Amino acid sequence: MLGNFSYCNPTKLYFGKGSVMNLNEELPKYGKNVVLIYGGGSIKRNGIYDEVVHILNENGKTVTEISGVMPNPTLEKLYEGVKTARSAKADLLLAVGGGSVIDYAKAVSVSVNCTEDPWEKYFISNEEPSCETLPVGAVLTMVGTGSEMNAGSVITNTRQKLKIGHVFKDEKIMPRFSILDPTYTFTLPRYQMVAGIFDIFCHISEQYFSGDDDNTSDYIAEGLMLSLIRSSLIADKDMTDYEARSNIMWTATWALNTLIACGKTTDWEVHMLGQAVGAYTNATHGMTLSAVSMAYYKHILPYGLAKFKRFAVNVWGIDPDGKSDEEIANAGLSAMEDWMKKLGLAMNITELGVDPSMLEGLADATLIMEGGYKTLTRPEVIEIFKNSL
Ligand code: NZQ
Ligand code: ZN
Repeated sequence: MLGNFSYCNPTKLYFGKGSVMNLNEELPKYGKNVVLIYGGGSIKRNGIYDEVVHILNENGKTVTEISGVMPNPTLEKLYEGVKTARSAKADLLLAVGGGSVIDYAKAVSVSVNCTEDPWEKYFISNEEPSCETLPVGAVLTMVGTGSEMNAGSVITNTRQKLKIGHVFKDEKIMPRFSILDPTYTFTLPRYQMVAGIFDIFCHISEQYFSGDDDNTSDYIAEGLMLSLIRSSLIADKDMTDYEARSNIMWTATWALNTLIACGKTTDWEVHMLGQAVGAYTNATHGMTLSAVSMAYYKHILPYGLAKFKRFAVNVWGIDPDGKSDEEIANAGLSAMEDWMKKLGLAMNITELGVDPSMLEGLADATLIMEGGYKTLTRPEVIEIFKNSL
């Protein structure tokens, strides 16, 4: 554990069946005006909307709605939400949905009292809020991003073809509370479930594949990966297996709530490649990651050989006997690839709508990170995208 760090996570979690009732404990802490934020309508079809609105009404709240937050929320939608939250004089932003809805609520929170343009300030210049922000609460319905317990927010600028995330430094941007009921995820389509599972895996591996010191964070990461792989295979057979779905939900939260980043430089290059694909295709986040992962990890394996060897043995159970370090490391990646195929993840960017004419643009849209085993050059980025086609 050689790196220095600070750790603070103030989000209060309520986990388990029926945990939505805990809104009754949280809502009285905030003023009367609640802005209820949700997506394209899944919560109306599965009844979550009715449950939440009933509790809001019982608590005497004045409710204003922002609906239609799309997957990969756009800047235009953010501008619209800021106007609504301002005119509603919001005291609390209650996000009911997946990462897109929760990320969006955080972006509204930091923009509502901001006189500058939020895209330029937060996403291009990576500045922190210099204005009052609004508290965000969350009811999670889609598992993967960890947005329920972190300060991340990702917004897509469709005009500039850029999808950029900002992890706010101030913990008060994290949701004040999050409701995690695994049964709320049972209505997710299989495609979204497995995309979420890979998003979780990728969050863990982005942090794991950095550094070479003996770090407790890596042991926690391995435990999370083992649980996720096991539960994913059970959920793949039976999407209503509560035990598996609850483990996946809990793993997602711990995969990206800053815990396993402690003492690590962290990589995040897979996310940068995936976000570029997302900006060009609007594809599902987890699938953009799966589609570039194999090409990326094969490329950086020689630079992080010792860690890839450890990953193969500790996570994938590869028997090291009689094998060279490279053989062990490659066997680990093959096992990972088999698991990805079994889940039916996107294994190339062509199936997500990328064609070779986009490669230069994708490289322009890819931010280069410096915390992993290899800082990529532009030709390497192009090569990874080519190998992902
Ligand atoms: O819009 P509705 O109708 O609600 O449908 C959604 C959406 O189409 C549907 N859905 C959600 N819960 C459901 C459901 N359908 C049936 N039953 C339910 N219970 O699922 C679709 C996808 O939802 P979305 O919120 O877009 O998915 P996800 O949670 O994967 O969020 C993706 C966004 O989060 C960002 C991504 O870039 C992307 O913009 N990320 C945020 C991060 C963070 N805050 O730290 C980190 C991640 O790496 C990621 O970048
Ligand atoms: Zn992600």
